Amino acid sequence: MSKPLGTVWNLEPHTAKKHEILRRYFDAWLPIMASRNDRVVYIDGFAGPGKYSMGEDGSPIVVLKAARDHTYPMKAELVCIFVENDLERCKHLKNVLDEMAPTLPSRIRCAAVHGRFDEHLTKTLNVIEAQKKNLAPAFVFIDPFGFSQTPFKTVAKVLGNSRCEVLVNFMYEEVNRFISLEEHAEDFDNLFGTAVWRSVRSLSAPSQRRKAIHDIYLRQLKTCAAHVHSFEMLNKGNSTDYILFFATNNLKGLEKMKEAMWKVDDTGSFQFSDHTDARGLMSLFSAHPNLAPLREAILKNFRGRQVKIESLRDWVIAETEFLPKHLKVPILAPMEDAGELLVVSPAPKRRKGTFSDGTILKFS
Ligand SMILES: C[S@@+](CC[C@H](N)C(=O)[O-])C[C@H]1O[C@@H](n2cnc3c(N)ncnc32)[C@H](O)[C@@H]1O
Repeated sequence: MSKPLGTVWNLEPHTAKKHEILRRYFDAWLPIMASRNDRVVYIDGFAGPGKYSMGEDGSPIVVLKAARDHTYPMKAELVCIFVENDLERCKHLKNVLDEMAPTLPSRIRCAAVHGRFDEHLTKTLNVIEAQKKNLAPAFVFIDPFGFSQTPFKTVAKVLGNSRCEVLVNFMYEEVNRFISLEEHAEDFDNLFGTAVWRSVRSLSAPSQRRKAIHDIYLRQLKTCAAHVHSFEMLNKGNSTDYILFFATNNLKGLEKMKEAMWKVDDTGSFQFSDHTDARGLMSLFSAHPNLAPLREAILKNFRGRQVKIESLRDWVIAETEFLPKHLKVPILAPMEDAGELLVVSPAPKRRKGTFSDGTILKFS
């Protein structure tokens, strides 16, 4: 199911945004993981040729430059594996990597591998399993062209390693277009790892189909990872092109990915549209995110209950679209002013509207 493109192709605005999310997350992930491990691994399962037609960086180079130019004084080794199935693109990528090699410190090792993502990953993970070893912490980027090359069982196998995380590009537009064709049923069984996707065929409203397809994949990821978050990319016609799904077992990882996504879309709708971007409309919506849903959700979940500020913070990360920075000053301080919350155990000399660790709140 690959698109008829040459060895390199044009960079679309939404691809640049995808790279921005990838780079921002990688920038946060690297120092956290490298401070606790001797070796960390980054795998780009569908690496591409390394460059776009006007010389812009492909995802392998985006990540290598982020690692090379990071200000964190890293001692750990970073191993980057770039898998690419098209021979010409893989050769192109190898040339780009060769050019870059002299600029990389010895603690960054990288290789372009010619082959299929699922075969390569399965083989690697089987060897590690057989040796009863644990895979070093790994961030795996899965960025295919279509829907037939990313079997869910491979994604699940990666997530079976508790310190592994995935960012999967789910090709929504193609899935939606082909989902009713019986000849692709086996591909969809493999993609979703469940047969329940068949229920989507009876839905005709586009928004219902989008939600149903999104939610089935999200639920599947949640069977293998504690936290899943998505970001939607819309095309020039302003309809969903693909959905990025991030899955992790680590709450800090989720927080960092949500921060990266909020940077790319500061309205908090977790979307980027080539349509609104081309018309210069993105900035019109961006000034102030609507935080009212966070206040409502807090009251719905915690009214009449006591909760420690740290637990509330973790709940915001895990269960809402919002970030910790949206909590204290924008929401809790005005709620305290309005008498909607009581500080049960104030720290000595506490100032009103501040909520240091250990503070217990009660919502009325
Ligand atoms: C969307 S492009 C990747 C773009 C790249 N990640 C980037 O952001 O610059 C998908 C790439 O996957 C390659 N590909 C297709 N099927 C593959 C497979 N089964 N395993 C590995 N690579 C594959 C294609 O040749 C293509 O270069």
